[in-house]
Amino acid sequence: MIKVFSTIETLSTGIAELFASAAEQAVASQGRFSALLSGGETPRRTYELLAQEPFRQRIPWNSIHLFWGDERCVADTDPRSNAHVVRQTLLDRVPMPERQIHPITCDGSPQTAASAYETSLRSHFSDDKARFDLVMLGLGDDGHTASLFPGTAALREQHHWVIATQKPGEDIMRVTVTIPLLNQAGLVVFLVAGPGKASVLRRVLEGPLTPDLFPAQRVKPVDGGLLWYVEESAARLLSPGIHTRGKM
Ligand code: 6PG
Repeated sequence: MIKVFSTIETLSTGIAELFASAAEQAVASQGRFSALLSGGETPRRTYELLAQEPFRQRIPWNSIHLFWGDERCVADTDPRSNAHVVRQTLLDRVPMPERQIHPITCDGSPQTAASAYETSLRSHFSDDKARFDLVMLGLGDDGHTASLFPGTAALREQHHWVIATQKPGEDIMRVTVTIPLLNQAGLVVFLVAGPGKASVLRRVLEGPLTPDLFPAQRVKPVDGGLLWYVEESAARLLSPGIHTRGKM
């Protein structure tokens, strides 16, 4: 389902609402809520809103576990670090137990970091299915998501849940979750904003299925939901009628 919001603020509020209600439902039914967070700029405002009322009070922080969908192999104080962004915008402002915050630490070899993260995921989900209650993903203007870039081996990984990879042309290494992990989720929501994403969004949603070129097309939860929360300027090239209106 595709929901269009008039501004980044209403989009971010919509995602914060989705996060809060998914957390309330998961904690009520299974005693905990496991979420996989997205990097990039788009979710920043959502993280800030989650740290403010009414969400701060509403969310059962003591029963929440946060993981990341990908990380760049940089110092954890580096502004490029996805975990650093979430610490600044959210985690330093809410009462979450540190043992429930699971950043990808990639200070040694990226391969070692990837297998260590996979081990932590397998122990969190007691090894069989990595069924995140909520996965937040962004969409790059080349159609990538997490750090699954077009034409890379990471995109075709069928066994591991986490692997080391690199953005073509970037000098640093990255660690990313893989398609097999993402497609086990209970609910995936893509966050897309800005006029620069209009063309790639239409290509991903309405163009031919070419997932090697547009990795986001590979995200199809096996028995979970898939939502697209899109800010208006990013939705402007979509065919009318394929989306509903979020809160304006
Ligand atoms: C990252 C993200 C990446 C991001 C997209 C969109 O680490 O960069 O995981 O997949 O979500 O590139 O980024 P923006 O939200 O900044 O457009």
